[in-house]
Amino acid sequence: MNILMIGDVVGQAGCDYLREKLPLLKRRYEVDVVVANGENSAEGNGMTPKSLRHLMDSGVDVVTSGNHALRRREVYEVLDNQQGVLRPANYHSTAPGTGIYLHDDPRNRLWVINLQGVVYIQNHQNPFDCIDSLLEQVDSPCVLVDFHAEATAEKLCLGHYLDGRVSAVVGTHTHVPTADARVLPKGTGYITDVGMCGGYDSVLGVKREIAIQKMRTGLPTRFENDPRDIRLCAVALEIENKTGKCAAIEAIPFF
Ligand SMILES: [Fe+2]
Ligand SMILES: [Fe+2]
Repeated sequence: MNILMIGDVVGQAGCDYLREKLPLLKRRYEVDVVVANGENSAEGNGMTPKSLRHLMDSGVDVVTSGNHALRRREVYEVLDNQQGVLRPANYHSTAPGTGIYLHDDPRNRLWVINLQGVVYIQNHQNPFDCIDSLLEQVDSPCVLVDFHAEATAEKLCLGHYLDGRVSAVVGTHTHVPTADARVLPKGTGYITDVGMCGGYDSVLGVKREIAIQKMRTGLPTRFENDPRDIRLCAVALEIENKTGKCAAIEAIPFF
């Protein structure tokens, strides 16, 4: 199967751009399953029922997330009830929603697991231990892991830890694409970070003047997304359905 994994989609402008470009990408890469990280899809960060509906109506099959997943209370009901919307699996057991999902297309059966790092980011259950137990319930070979984490070493360690055990480990959260897309020695596709779908001249999707002001002064600042010159960052993964091995991974930066 061919999977398209799209990095953090930022705000209304990112959602609109994804809707415009996804049909072309799906044709070009003959995509069977689309996964996108939606943690920044609502204006002002987080996810709302509306931003999630927009992503799914645009052709996204599974939405993953990260540290902004639970920012909006109104999304908790969606997380609890809607299939295919994930928050990191290693959150506390009382958190709404789930971090594992089976995309049960009989021809392209894909498990999607969302995890969050614990280095230089919030503290949650150890993601290595969490995925060890989650993989016990996985009963088919194709598994995509969105590892939403800050530290490159933590992402690389999880990639190598899961090499040969899952189809792909794809990093999100930094909003900046890395140049290390590759298939690891035992057949797991890997990239440290996919990047984002947001303003090219921004700072992680936020208007650069506002981000600079915050960085320069350290004072409270109200962030606004930059809706100009949106570009989409993704990876295209080719997975062998029988074995779950990754045959190829191609980074698509700044489409
Ligand atoms: Fe993000
Ligand atoms: Fe994040």
